Amino acid sequence: MDYKLLVAKEIQQHVSEHLTVDEVYNLLEAPKHVEHGDVAFPAFSLAKVFRKAPQMIAGELAEKINHDFIAKTEPVGPYVNFFMNKNEVSAAVLREIAAEKGAYGDAKVGNGQNVPIDMSSPNIAKPISMGHLRSTVIGNALANIVEKVGYKPVKINHLGDWGTQFGKLIVAYKKWGSEEEVKAEPIAELLKLYVRFHEVAEEDTDLEDEARAWFKKLEDNDEEATSLWKWFRSESLKEFMKIYEMLDITFDSFNGEAFYNDKMDEVVELLEEKNLLTTDRGATIVNLDAYNLNPALIKKSDGATLYITRDLAAAIYRKRTYDFALSLYAVGNEQSNHFKQLKAVLKEMDFDWAEDMHHIPFGLITQGGKKLSTRKGKVILLEEVLNEATSLALAQINEKNPTLEDKEEVAKQVGIGAVIFHDLKNDRLNNFDFVLEEVVQFEGETGPYVQYTNARALSILRKANVELDLEGDLNLDDEYSWEVIKLINSFPDIVLTAFEKFEPSVIAKYSLHLSQAFNKYYGNSRVLNEDEQLNARLVLVKATTLILQESLRLLGVKAPSQM
Ligand code: ARG
Repeated sequence: MDYKLLVAKEIQQHVSEHLTVDEVYNLLEAPKHVEHGDVAFPAFSLAKVFRKAPQMIAGELAEKINHDFIAKTEPVGPYVNFFMNKNEVSAAVLREIAAEKGAYGDAKVGNGQNVPIDMSSPNIAKPISMGHLRSTVIGNALANIVEKVGYKPVKINHLGDWGTQFGKLIVAYKKWGSEEEVKAEPIAELLKLYVRFHEVAEEDTDLEDEARAWFKKLEDNDEEATSLWKWFRSESLKEFMKIYEMLDITFDSFNGEAFYNDKMDEVVELLEEKNLLTTDRGATIVNLDAYNLNPALIKKSDGATLYITRDLAAAIYRKRTYDFALSLYAVGNEQSNHFKQLKAVLKEMDFDWAEDMHHIPFGLITQGGKKLSTRKGKVILLEEVLNEATSLALAQINEKNPTLEDKEEVAKQVGIGAVIFHDLKNDRLNNFDFVLEEVVQFEGETGPYVQYTNARALSILRKANVELDLEGDLNLDDEYSWEVIKLINSFPDIVLTAFEKFEPSVIAKYSLHLSQAFNKYYGNSRVLNEDEQLNARLVLVKATTLILQESLRLLGVKAPSQM
């Protein structure tokens, strides 16, 4: 319910010669203090046309307003403050959400158009890093958010499954590897081989040449090279899948870098046709001086293609396949330059849809303030983090609610949900330090706190054990319920803001505010008291659970009904 619009229409009737409803609407402000009401209109802009002091205009305007939904108007200096009729607004808001349920806040901006989201995209034979976790959960939340506003998300895992590192891996495996060991622990073992390659290569420079030769063989479809590559890929993917299953995140496509191997000649041809290629010390490049960017390296001097060449092919492929309205890339901040170059080259190729591509960058996860590095094998293993989060959650459940049914399952939902929520609650560009014990707290600004609030609200409804009457009286007028009502009412705007900024944290922060407001309400009112407002209060509780559940769903966090 847009009561701001209602106020705007009401004001506009009295100033119709000078302002449109839209203009009035845009002038309206949300007062910082409750004692100044719910909406404020500044009268400054009318001073000229009325040839009066804004104070006077405000005073006169305040007297003319008369509407069921407006309880009171108050001129304060050059402002008119509007106090909404809490009873009327509460009833309208509650009726709306009760009718729409999970669909509350759905928008139609997307018109069913496709939005590919490049997300997760770990590298074969290397562990999924915390950075890939961020990409996975941010991408997944964005997919849910774009869907909520009417687009069709296409979740693409652009696996790092091609590149010169595979030459190195083949050499290392042939020299020192064993099939059983790789099978037992694929990624740990392949990483070991990779690290060993670099150690030995520091002394033995021939090794790099061998690696290059093997990568060349791979590019030329050599049988042995290809079968080893396929094997490394499938063993790694098996391990990645375990993590995706724990997170309960699925993909629509696993077309990684290798998928574009046969699509790059065309890219190079297109670049040639547009006369965009030049040679620099044997390498083929696109000059991007006009964009204040370093040249994009399309082919090395030995003819090998690069990361950006594959991304060019991928961007074109996605436009052709999905005819996208937007194309998103949830990839760390450190690749900003790469995505600027990518867009610039596509613009040079006259693809105006390059404007619809958005890099969604995010900051680093640190530990003890330090950057985590994959090189030299210094990594946090995600699977371990998720398992540990689950045991921490279980310990808290054992303490608080030892007789809970399905404890293990709930602990998973809480522990893993906590990690996801923590990742999403900060503005995505911020770096943040990861301390698991803080992440899995039931109190504070955490996912478990939101989950707990929802479970508590559900238990209130169970306890009341009455049929909610949505047609009945839904009036509420106390200040605590009003805070909850206002938040519930703003949910559709929150969804749109999260979409416009590509910022899941908007929803995570909102769910914390709603939880806090709800808990305050619960602490200050006798929700279960048997009086004539019982039904209205319970519908408010129900509405809160609907919104908390929908917020958590958008973030990719489960909402257990008891915990
Ligand atoms: N595999 C890359 C990495 O781990 C991320 C790929 C991002 N997506 C893309 N289309 N470039 O750094």
